[in-house]
Amino acid sequence: MKRIKAIYPGSFDPPTNGHLDLIERGSKIFDELVVAILRNPEKDPLFSVADRRKMLEEMTADFANVSIDTFDGLTVDYALRVEARVILRGIRAISDYEYELQMALMNRKLQPRLETVFMMPAEKYSYLSSRLVREVAQLGGSVDSLVPQLVAQKVREKMDVAHKFETGGLDKTPSEAKSQSRKKKVPSP
Ligand code: PNS
Repeated sequence: MKRIKAIYPGSFDPPTNGHLDLIERGSKIFDELVVAILRNPEKDPLFSVADRRKMLEEMTADFANVSIDTFDGLTVDYALRVEARVILRGIRAISDYEYELQMALMNRKLQPRLETVFMMPAEKYSYLSSRLVREVAQLGGSVDSLVPQLVAQKVREKMDVAHKFETGGLDKTPSEAKSQSRKKKVPSP
């Protein structure tokens, strides 16, 4: 019997409970599932690709057939490179459908050998997106129930650094503010 390998491409900035739900569903259907983070230099991300990779690796550590990778260029080219036959995408609501259909049909045009498979996350995650998680966090709201615990912790750390940067003076970068506070701790001779 043929083994089916799928990729689940996306930005995952940050990964949410909705992503995790979809990964779990995908891992039950496909023999192998690669969560593929797009390295997109044009975007201004909250988390680096390395951070997102680490978070996803920890979140999916219990799924034996799930691995994490990064890619750039066309998703279809990446899929062929890793010998996947399926592109997995989540659809939360009708509003996702138009964009997802467009993307799936374009990917089919580019590479007819690949199939896009849509799965729905649990209803309770149907309003959840990385963009909203970023917005809630940046405006001081709690994201504890929206993302896995380890991601919530990383988001809090990010927001603390941003807050210190703001209160440390607008002309200082986070590393400048850090080195200034370190200097203050050194007792004067
Ligand atoms: O999580 P996102 O941001 O909705 O993921 C979008 C993603 C990464 C799947 C999409 O932007 C993508 O496939 N980008 C790679 C470039 C590409 O293949 N473009 C043509 C798709 S029609």
